[in-house]
Amino acid sequence: MPKIKMKGKEVTIPKDGNSSSKFEELGIALSCCGGICGTCKIKVLKGIENINPKTEEEMEFQLEKNERLACQCHKIKGDIEIDYEEW
Ligand code: FES
Repeated sequence: MPKIKMKGKEVTIPKDGNSSSKFEELGIALSCCGGICGTCKIKVLKGIENINPKTEEEMEFQLEKNERLACQCHKIKGDIEIDYEEW
C-alpha cells in the first residue's frame, strides 16, 4: 500500500484510500477539507505523479507546480514524500 513520508515519519494509506486522516497523523492541519482555506498546503518532494490531478479548487490557489492542497489529494496510487510548514 502507498506510503506518505515526511520529515523522517511515514504513514501507510489504508485500503479504503482515506488519506486525510493520514495527513493529519503527520501533523498537517486540515480545516475546511474542501480546498477553500489553504491551511493544508504541502510541497511534494517525490512522487507527484502518484497523486490525482489538481482539482478545480486547487486551481484557485497560486500553487507552484510541486505544491498541492493535502485535502484534495484523494487518490494516491504510489509512495510520495512531502514537506509542510504550518502557516
Ligand atoms: S483543509 Fe482547507 S484547503 Fe485543505
